[in-house]
Amino acid sequence: MNNELIMPKHIGIIVDGNGRWATKRGLPRSMGHKVGAENLKNICLYLNDLGLKYLSVFVFSTENFKRENKEVDYLMDLFVKMFKSEFEEIIKKGIKVVFSGRRDRLRKEVLEAMDYLENTTSNNHKCTLNICLNYGGQSEIVDMTKKVCQLYKEDKISLEDIDADFIRKNLYQDLPPVDFLIRTSGELRLSNFMLYQASYAELYFPETYFPDFKEEDINKALEEFNNRNRRFGGN
Ligand code: IPE
Ligand code: MG
Repeated sequence: MNNELIMPKHIGIIVDGNGRWATKRGLPRSMGHKVGAENLKNICLYLNDLGLKYLSVFVFSTENFKRENKEVDYLMDLFVKMFKSEFEEIIKKGIKVVFSGRRDRLRKEVLEAMDYLENTTSNNHKCTLNICLNYGGQSEIVDMTKKVCQLYKEDKISLEDIDADFIRKNLYQDLPPVDFLIRTSGELRLSNFMLYQASYAELYFPETYFPDFKEEDINKALEEFNNRNRRFGGN
């Protein structure tokens, strides 16, 4: 990859197209999720090697619970397996894993696997991997509002303390704004992903289904990011 490229500080990835990837090959959708999960791990390791500091990945939205039970159960089992036994390299490479989303509706085994990964990597200082699981951007803003109201009610903050930065810090995780947002599979939607954090993100919508989105595609994406002229409302 071209070494002159500027790395975004925070990349967001909406993982999409696993199901279509599998269907296209005459395979069950679950195979797409399996290959997609493996790919996600590799992409994360690659971006960490490139020096990325923050990576947020959308792996399961609150709305994904509307899918058939069979698919939801498969995904939940896959998360448990990945977090508990297939993230050794992620842990070893110094990546810190955090989660964003609501804990309700998630089975005990899933919560345990998430807690295990968060605890095991809490002292890591390389890339922070923010896994958005049972996540919704509007729910995040609702939950932040409740938290801030509670702080106000308990006299812990005053109205003057509340500004854009304060709001951002009180979301599920205290992360910098998303600079570059990638959604694979050609869908042109945010689907409730990081609505507050992505307000000035550069958007990128490659056609590739996620299981096929490899290192070369990341390189291409980063080149595209470097060609964008970010003005943040200025001229
Ligand atoms: C993304 O792939 C993975 C999850 C949402 C868990 P999809 O499952 O949305 O794949 P398509 O969009 O049906 O191809
Ligand atoms: Mg989809």
